Amino acid sequence: MVGFNILRYPSLLALALPLRCRAVPVVSEPTTTVTSTPSVTASVVPVTNVTSHGPYTGPPPTTTGALSTTVLAPSIPAYPPEPYKLQYPADGKLHQPQPAPYTPGGGLGTNGSEPVYRVQSDFDYESIALGLYQEWIELDLFHYGLATFSVEDFESIGLTAEDRYLLQFMAEQEVGHATLLTNLLGPQAPVQCTYNYPSMNLREYIDFSQKLTRWGESGVYGFLNHLDAREVGQLLLQSISTEARQQMIFRQFEGLFPMPVWFEIGVPQSWAWTLLAPYISSCPQDQTRLIWQNFPALHILNQPNPARINGSNVWNETRGDYANTLSTDGLSDSDSCINAREVGENCSPAITRNRTNPLSYPGRQVFLEWDNPGQVVGPNNSYVTSTSAGVPKFAAWVSQLNVTYSPLLNISGNSAYTIQPNTSTYEGDPAINGTIFLAITDSELPVTPFNLTQLNPVVNALAIYQAG
Ligand SMILES: *[C@@H]1O[C@H](CO)[C@@H](O)[C@H](O)[C@H]1NC(C)=O
Ligand SMILES: *[C@@H]1O[C@H](CO)[C@@H](O)[C@H](O)[C@H]1NC(C)=O
Ligand SMILES: *[C@@H]1O[C@H](CO)[C@@H](O)[C@H](O)[C@H]1NC(C)=O
Ligand SMILES: *[C@@H]1O[C@H](CO)[C@@H](O)[C@H](O)[C@H]1NC(C)=O
Ligand SMILES: *[C@@H]1O[C@H](CO)[C@@H](O)[C@H](O)[C@H]1NC(C)=O
Ligand SMILES: *[C@@H]1O[C@H](CO)[C@@H](O)[C@H](O)[C@H]1NC(C)=O
Ligand SMILES: *[C@@H]1O[C@H](CO)[C@@H](O)[C@H](O)[C@H]1NC(C)=O
Ligand SMILES: *[C@@H]1O[C@H](CO)[C@@H](O)[C@H](O)[C@H]1NC(C)=O
Ligand SMILES: *[C@@H]1O[C@H](CO)[C@@H](O)[C@H](O)[C@H]1NC(C)=O
Ligand SMILES: *[C@@H]1O[C@H](CO)[C@@H](O)[C@H](O)[C@H]1NC(C)=O
Ligand SMILES: *[C@@H]1O[C@H](CO)[C@@H](O)[C@H](O)[C@H]1NC(C)=O
Repeated sequence: MVGFNILRYPSLLALALPLRCRAVPVVSEPTTTVTSTPSVTASVVPVTNVTSHGPYTGPPPTTTGALSTTVLAPSIPAYPPEPYKLQYPADGKLHQPQPAPYTPGGGLGTNGSEPVYRVQSDFDYESIALGLYQEWIELDLFHYGLATFSVEDFESIGLTAEDRYLLQFMAEQEVGHATLLTNLLGPQAPVQCTYNYPSMNLREYIDFSQKLTRWGESGVYGFLNHLDAREVGQLLLQSISTEARQQMIFRQFEGLFPMPVWFEIGVPQSWAWTLLAPYISSCPQDQTRLIWQNFPALHILNQPNPARINGSNVWNETRGDYANTLSTDGLSDSDSCINAREVGENCSPAITRNRTNPLSYPGRQVFLEWDNPGQVVGPNNSYVTSTSAGVPKFAAWVSQLNVTYSPLLNISGNSAYTIQPNTSTYEGDPAINGTIFLAITDSELPVTPFNLTQLNPVVNALAIYQAG
């Protein structure tokens, strides 16, 4: 290794000397630029506004089930850590030669090789293709909201023309995200499908959008750092950061506390696909299929209701769909937080809202009911729900950096209840808050954010829980 000493390079040394202007000559008042020739603009993927929505009614599919190839084992065993990962002396001193000035040794993709923005494995392809299915539904969902609800609907819950423009802009962002992911995948990239949403009023639509963007965002965090193509990860990160903001904006539209956690959740791809697929009605003939698992639905019978002053005081107030979306049917005006004016009760759209009565709390009894596997879901009803888990025994609360188990109690057939655990990520940060994931499992498998996918073989059913 040849040492490279900055002092041997006078031109570099010169840069290190203080550069100071003596005086700034004022030529004129700054003016606006009169013309600026645009650079070449990259075109976006063709987008058509999907005009029909509803369940799939066509013929039974010719291909069913997840995409698959030779399967080597039923699950991936747990191994001890790789020893080299325990060796770097993290003491604040340098331990490697520097490849260049101001450049520490190490890192991946840092040695000057030209970046290649292209998927590099089945893992990459399937993950990005899943992300693309998600971007497509968001594009449709945001347009659908604008097309379905009237100006009066929006105004009646306190959303103005400026808010509607924000929703429209979010749809436009999705055009960009869909273009980016399509380019990373190449010609067989999944295209836009048609969709089947629960029947919803505007308030419920906002709740659904807030939940859908949660699994969109978390689904990506779960695989981002496992991608082979770090270049792809870079671009995806820069789009998912936008998606994260969308999720928060929907929470603000809903009058929830915008970010009641210190860390956002990452979940396995199959969790995102489980929650997304039921809302896809049909896809075109030669659509690229996915490898991911569809878990059976978990129904939260007392899913907290963000439209109530006392959101935890509920029974059966969801649209009955996979995401356990809010239902405002049967909500009286006096219980509704939209009409409430008091601080702590009012939940009309805002930058932030205190909820005096939390939507959920440690010690809350949560009543659950789950579907059997073997149900057809997803595009053209061509995917089938499945589980490889044994008898369900635990609820797994997946929130922030933690997976916390609570036992299922009074199990009777496909229903049980459990108690919301009292757990903190760090002191001062109750772990269970915000829009989280709740699974039921056959065992208490220890998992952490980087190996959460190892949980899949023991998952019986999956839901979104509105913890706060
Ligand atoms: C799709 O719908 C949106 C909102 O309804 C509209 O602004 C946009 O122009 C439409 N796009 C196309 C391609 O028709
Ligand atoms: C996941 O990682 C944790 C350490 O972070 C380890 O204790 C656990 O055994 C791993 N789980 C599996 C199923 O591999
Ligand atoms: C850069 O690193 C990659 C991965 O370790 C390696 O394959 C490649 O040969 C390296 N390129 C150069 C120019 O050293
Ligand atoms: C799914 O259904 C649509 C609408 O009926 C049809 O056009 C399409 O060919 C079907 N896709 C597959 C893969 O069978
Ligand atoms: C809110 O509902 C919970 C039960 O769902 C109840 O325990 C609590 O007392 C209620 N709070 C108020 C202020 O009514
Ligand atoms: C929930 O409400 C729906 C629609 O009213 C009804 O069909 C279902 O039986 C109810 N479920 C429970 C567990 O009360
Ligand atoms: C909001 O809640 C926090 C935490 O409970 C409390 O400290 C604060 O005073 C509340 N603010 C208002 C305006 O109610
Ligand atoms: C969630 O966070 C909000 C805002 O800080 C707080 O008011 C609420 O009590 C929290 N809920 C739980 C279950 O910790
Ligand atoms: C949760 O734990 C904290 C401290 O560990 C305790 O103060 C609080 O009472 C517990 N809450 C419940 C509902 O058990
Ligand atoms: C659980 O089962 C026991 C015994 O059957 C019963 O007494 C209790 O009320 C049940 N609890 C709930 C919450 O259903
Ligand atoms: C939650 O995760 C953090 C980060 O991995 C860990 O330090 C903490 O101990 C976990 N909390 C619990 C209650 O398991």
